[in-house]
Amino acid sequence: MIIVENLSKSFTLHTLGGKQIRACRDISFRVPPGGFLGLSGPSGVGKSTVLKCIYRTYLASSGTIRFNSTACGWVDLAALPDRAVIDIRDREMGYVSQFLKVIPRVSALEVVMEPILSRNSVSRDTARQRAVDLLERLRISSHLFDAYPATFSGGEQQRVNIARAVSWKPRLLLLDEPTASLDQNSIGVVLEILRELRDEGTTMIGIFHDTTLLTSVADSVCHIDNFDALVKSRISDDFVKSSQARRANPEE
Ligand SMILES: Nc1ncnc2c1ncn2[C@@H]1O[C@H](COP(=O)(O)OP(=O)(O)OP(=O)(O)O)[C@@H](O)[C@H]1O
Ligand SMILES: [Mg+2]
Repeated sequence: MIIVENLSKSFTLHTLGGKQIRACRDISFRVPPGGFLGLSGPSGVGKSTVLKCIYRTYLASSGTIRFNSTACGWVDLAALPDRAVIDIRDREMGYVSQFLKVIPRVSALEVVMEPILSRNSVSRDTARQRAVDLLERLRISSHLFDAYPATFSGGEQQRVNIARAVSWKPRLLLLDEPTASLDQNSIGVVLEILRELRDEGTTMIGIFHDTTLLTSVADSVCHIDNFDALVKSRISDDFVKSSQARRANPEE
């Protein structure tokens, strides 16, 4: 589904005389369709950068990010023109960051319904029902459905954010610490929703603030430390071996 090879990203800080910051270096992994890869490693090692390069918030400095899209088949997200990336994002890729990008004067229910209506061909009633179910499961009290999320607590905003990202069942879902400000009960519900989504075929790449959480949902983990990426997999040893072999023989 997605094959990342030798992905690196650097930034030039013009305000500091052109100083170079290496945000991530030589990251390689692959995620099969329906797989769930966790990214782990110390703070600042480049985990969020990897997700942003895949979503193309950042343009990779080198390396390839091959993605098997429905619309165009295999494409390299590190080299694809912006227009095509936006198209793929709209149809197939979801991204949950730690914070909700609040849309002014749009109610919580509408925030969750909007991607369902624009991406899935369902009636307004079906979209509304799906949104209500998700918000209820995520314990957003019904009197907040018509309210604007701008005034919600951090945890409430994060739950609306998750509901919005999963509501339309993207083919690839990128998760950057989606449960960072949630209590244990809410974390449990989020994990349950992610497992269901996965059972329905969504491929996921996620960063979690807690290793126990990460290993409870991910079936393989790419650990980045000192800029070395080590992929461990519980899916099959072949996956790990092929990943290591690819790194040893990058030409293949
Ligand atoms: N837009 C940017 N401009 C300059 N430097 C950046 C930018 N984005 C990321 N970096 C740098 O790249 C490095 C990696 O950042 P990143 O956010 O990917 O780390 P992380 O592993 O997600 O850390 P954390 O676990 O704390 O979230 C950091 O040193 C950061 O300062
Ligand atoms: Mg991060």
